[in-house]
Amino acid sequence: MKKLIIANWKMNPLKGSEARKMFAAINTVASKLKNVETVVCPPLVYLESLGEKVTTRSCVLGAQDAFWEHAGPYTGQVSPDMIFNTKARYVIVGHSEVRKLGETDELVNKKIQSILQFPLIPIICVGETVRDADGEHIKFVKHQIKQALGGLTQEQVMRVVIAYEPVWSIGVKAKRVCTPAECREVVQNIRHVLADILGDTDSARTVPIIYGGSVDGGGIEGFLADGLVQGALVGHASLDPKEFTKILKIAEKI
Ligand code: PGA
Repeated sequence: MKKLIIANWKMNPLKGSEARKMFAAINTVASKLKNVETVVCPPLVYLESLGEKVTTRSCVLGAQDAFWEHAGPYTGQVSPDMIFNTKARYVIVGHSEVRKLGETDELVNKKIQSILQFPLIPIICVGETVRDADGEHIKFVKHQIKQALGGLTQEQVMRVVIAYEPVWSIGVKAKRVCTPAECREVVQNIRHVLADILGDTDSARTVPIIYGGSVDGGGIEGFLADGLVQGALVGHASLDPKEFTKILKIAEKI
């Protein structure tokens, strides 16, 4: 399985010209890699123009969210159909920053069902806001996954990517970063839930699980080597093409 490294630019950069420069710098490196698939998720307004810059399948685009309806009177929303028409191939769903604004597990599930009507891959974000010693965070993450995947067929479950993002480890202000061992423990449990849902451990193994939360050039190796994950969802470090391509090059070698 190829490594999957995803850039989540969040609400950055301010100008399209800057977005094109950043994408070009990433694409120069990413398009040559054999063992890594790179996905850049810019703000929606830049998707169409960056789509023209995509040159290979190894460096593609994704959206940061999508609405569940296809078209109609939904002011401010963008549908999976529209995203698919821009040539994007992935959609982040259930990011903690969107959940914080009121998105529920039920809405996350509706979005995933709608995204899967298209040849798009949902990157489903799950993760606890706090950790305690009694392992409540594991129950919490398992519950989020069951809710997110509710009502999906086996074939659909096998098309998703799960991003484990402990919320306390996200962003420049995070007090500390999740360790590869802490990540591994949760990822093992995510595999168990997937095996329960799919009724088979071999199929569960084919669903990519990636880690997100303050990943940079210094930390990526630990997660890929010891965190039991196939890739990373990278926020602030993806805004610096030098740092992000460093992550890509390390992932290529592991
Ligand atoms: P971060 O963000 O790398 O800035 O912690 C990751 C994310 O929120 O996806």
